[in-house]
Amino acid sequence: MILIFGAGGQVGQELQRTAFAKGVACKALSRLEVDIANAADVARALDETAPTLVVNAAAYTKVDLAETEINAAQRGNEIGPGVIGKACAARETPLIHLSTDYVFDGTKIGPYMESDPLAPLGVYGRTKAAGESAVRDAAPLHIILRTSWVYGEFGNNFLKTMLRLARDRDELRVVADQHGCPTSARDIAVAILRLAPRLETGSDLYGLYHFAGVGATSWHGFASRIVEAQANITGRRPKVTAIATADYPTPARRPANSVLDCSLFVRKFGFGAHHWGEETDAVAQALTGKS
Ligand SMILES: NC(=O)c1ccc[n+]([C@@H]2O[C@H](COP(=O)([O-])OP(=O)(O)OC[C@H]3O[C@@H](n4cnc5c(N)ncnc54)[C@H](OP(=O)(O)O)[C@@H]3O)[C@@H](O)[C@H]2O)c1
Repeated sequence: MILIFGAGGQVGQELQRTAFAKGVACKALSRLEVDIANAADVARALDETAPTLVVNAAAYTKVDLAETEINAAQRGNEIGPGVIGKACAARETPLIHLSTDYVFDGTKIGPYMESDPLAPLGVYGRTKAAGESAVRDAAPLHIILRTSWVYGEFGNNFLKTMLRLARDRDELRVVADQHGCPTSARDIAVAILRLAPRLETGSDLYGLYHFAGVGATSWHGFASRIVEAQANITGRRPKVTAIATADYPTPARRPANSVLDCSLFVRKFGFGAHHWGEETDAVAQALTGKS
């Protein structure tokens, strides 16, 4: 039995769908059922389900709002992961925890390795970095997967926003000077479910890994691919104009480069994510006419 925190999120929902399709038993709890920063609730959830693996897909992910909602970001990203880590450690239960490319400042030339120094630019990244430390300090049996630019059929994400805007507007203006790896929630879910049975045997697989879609692009490149995938079905093809970060000011600064080197994960586990473009086409096609 896999216990999932963050049932209502993009990855949480995709995990439930994928587990159901593969016949993997799981129990998924939303924020309404368990606030992960509440130690008593987390302990009760573990005791009631006696899981063989805990997945923490819960997080405070509103990057801009985090600049002012600092306490909520800390609860979801730092305190909660520490609470889950301690509960898992006390029961010797393995934990898979998700983290983010926004722990980096984006000044590196080339893809980021797991060993690169953390230098988050905002509250979201700072609290996620603190969450990684909290998990590492509390739970010896942990895997931290740092992922990036997550999109999928569930929840809110950039891909869905672009599909919607492309239906209503003749031009989309999208930032072209931030680069990263769009990652489908489905790839993350499939990866977690493939790791799950390998952690039960007490292995040397624990640790920190980057896991993201293969290849890299800008938000503008990502948007162009999304619009094209939808246009192939609807025929409606609005212009996608490249703009600079300076032309689209946001409360939180974002890294200009957050491309993740995922070769360690591939070497260790023998598989990786799909190319970001392939998955973008598939998800955009699945959602066209629905979202
Ligand atoms: N989204 C991205 O682009 C991205 C990029 C890199 C890494 N990641 C990481 O990937 C993981 C999954 O992200 P996602 O995109 O699936 O996030 P998401 O769609 O925002 O889902 C996160 C879920 O966690 C819940 N949550 C927030 N605070 C909580 C708390 N204190 N206790 C219990 N649940 C809480 C949220 O509930 P409410 O909605 O009710 O607040 C939401 O349902 C996260 O660790 C995130 O940091 C995401």
